[in-house]
Amino acid sequence: MTQSTTMLEVRDLKVHFALKKAGLLSEPAHVYAVDGVSFDVKQGSAYGIVGESGCGKSTTALALANLIVPTGGEIILNGQSLTARTRKEMKEIHKNLQMIFQDPYSSLDPRQRVENIIAKPMRQLTNMDEAAISRRVDELITKVGLRPEQKKLFPHQFSGGQRQRIGIARALAVNPKLIICDEPVSALDVAIQAQVINLLKLLQKELGLTYVFISHDLAVVQRLCDALSVMYLGRVVEQGDRREIFSRPLHPYTHALLTADPVKDPTQRGQVKRLRIEGDPPSPINPPSGCHFHTRCPYAQEICKQEMPILRDVGEGQRVACHLVEIVNNKPVSPVSL
Ligand SMILES: Nc1ncnc2c1ncn2[C@@H]1O[C@H](COP(=O)(O)OP(=O)(O)O)[C@@H](O)[C@H]1O
Ligand code: SF4
Ligand SMILES: [Mg+2]
Repeated sequence: MTQSTTMLEVRDLKVHFALKKAGLLSEPAHVYAVDGVSFDVKQGSAYGIVGESGCGKSTTALALANLIVPTGGEIILNGQSLTARTRKEMKEIHKNLQMIFQDPYSSLDPRQRVENIIAKPMRQLTNMDEAAISRRVDELITKVGLRPEQKKLFPHQFSGGQRQRIGIARALAVNPKLIICDEPVSALDVAIQAQVINLLKLLQKELGLTYVFISHDLAVVQRLCDALSVMYLGRVVEQGDRREIFSRPLHPYTHALLTADPVKDPTQRGQVKRLRIEGDPPSPINPPSGCHFHTRCPYAQEICKQEMPILRDVGEGQRVACHLVEIVNNKPVSPVSL
């Protein structure tokens, strides 16, 4: 298969959490954590999802990994819908889809030796015998840059970077095709981050893996991802190829994110006009009407408060959800409604 084959299709994904009712007669409030997210991930690529804390990245990841049930929408892996599957079918799907979590301290069971942590998915999802599992544990530990004898140790005996390597070995154990990485390096020092990213890149090449890579750090996404979606309060505001978005961010929010975290590539420095936004995102419990970004957007007009902008194709595969994308960017882009 080549990179042009779509491995994962996410269509209008919604995850709304009902909160406890304030009173007997009141309607329960909802957190609109993910509210209509769509994107495609190509076989063998790394797809980034970026946005500030609370914008719905982890909830998206958990829905993709089937760890929470979506309120609506569809997730299609290799042409098969992940909704309403039997237990047996879900087992098959989990073999192809594994997850690496943000916190290497809490995501590994502290009472288990590393060999059991890595063996667990093989015991749960395959018919491998213990001898084969043991051989595979040794192979995986070596693959992620640790030594086989370290398998007898417990998680607390490792550094943060080493623990994340154990998390990677566990995710690789059942030979998945797709790995959902939820901020896998955010808890690590910058120098260690680089090592783990390099390992992920190496494994991707060697094993032909596909990644959905979630991060609030644009520099990390820029190093690893081929394409990305930028999220704001549960919705995608811009998506497209990494090169296009980093060199020509068209949504005011993407623009602001790039300005807040200046692009590390010196050839691109100075090309992005600075745009500052103030404050934190509003609550996803009662998100602002129309364009969710209107309360912080320096370009907002009346229409932005009234109508929700849809993601429009603005050329080169780049899609932007902004009523005023042409005016804001002061150049003609030919919008095609989807
Ligand atoms: N189980 C839950 N119940 C209620 N609200 C939740 C739950 N999980 C997440 N949220 C809320 O959903 C929003 C999105 O959270 P999350 O997906 O963790 O964002 P991110 O990973 O981008 O920081 C946040 O406002 C968060 O508080
Ligand atoms: S739709 Fe309006 S408020 Fe939203 S990003 Fe565009 S200009 Fe800003
Ligand atoms: Mg998160």
